[in-house]
Amino acid sequence: MSIHIGAKPGDIAETVLMPGDPYRARWAAETYLENPRLVNEVRGMLGYTGTWKGHPVTIHGSGMGMPSLSIYANELIRDYGAKTLIRIGSCGGMQEKVAIRDVIVAMTASSISTPSRGIFREFNFAPPADWELLRNAVTSAEAKGSRVHVGGIYSADVFYDERPDLNEQMTRHGILGVEMEAAELYNLAARHGIRALCVLTVSDHLITHEALPSEDREKSFGEMVEIALEAAFP
Ligand code: HPA
Repeated sequence: MSIHIGAKPGDIAETVLMPGDPYRARWAAETYLENPRLVNEVRGMLGYTGTWKGHPVTIHGSGMGMPSLSIYANELIRDYGAKTLIRIGSCGGMQEKVAIRDVIVAMTASSISTPSRGIFREFNFAPPADWELLRNAVTSAEAKGSRVHVGGIYSADVFYDERPDLNEQMTRHGILGVEMEAAELYNLAARHGIRALCVLTVSDHLITHEALPSEDREKSFGEMVEIALEAAFP
């Protein structure tokens, strides 16, 4: 047991998929894993471990925002020996060419601040995705016929954003989408020498103001689970 994860030693696989929503973790585990079993439910943050095509996999919620993700990712890495963390989530589109339902694979994630600010101080660390995972995810998405974009995203600290000028600058600099977790995931992966990737579906759009209808969310989410699993086990 760690402070926020009730799993027993050995209950967590080396490969962990991390949706923000704990109920999504349950849905993904019950839909895609063989023999999924609940390994954590502390504070309602659900984690399941099973196998996919024989490979041990854990699917564990991260919660919303970088401080929440940081707690779970730190404990998964330091206390349970996780070696590959793949975030699967939604984002707001920030380019005209990026449409609702498109898949974004994040090469890096810009931010105003992350929980690692205290370590980096004046240094602007560029948090990178793991190249092998990224390449495998793009191969998988293309094979499925998904519309996929690869590039930089923005990890925001607030969902209810009051800086339209900042969004304009992000768009101007080619940022594909905005979410709230990837930058710190990549920071932690770099610090601990493990692999990380963030795969996103565009659920809403900051320029067109479209939003993904709720009945489509499950289908898009399922596609991302498959891409993440195929990225980890090509
Ligand atoms: N902003 C921040 N995070 C998000 C968004 C957004 O518009 N959409 C999905 N996650």
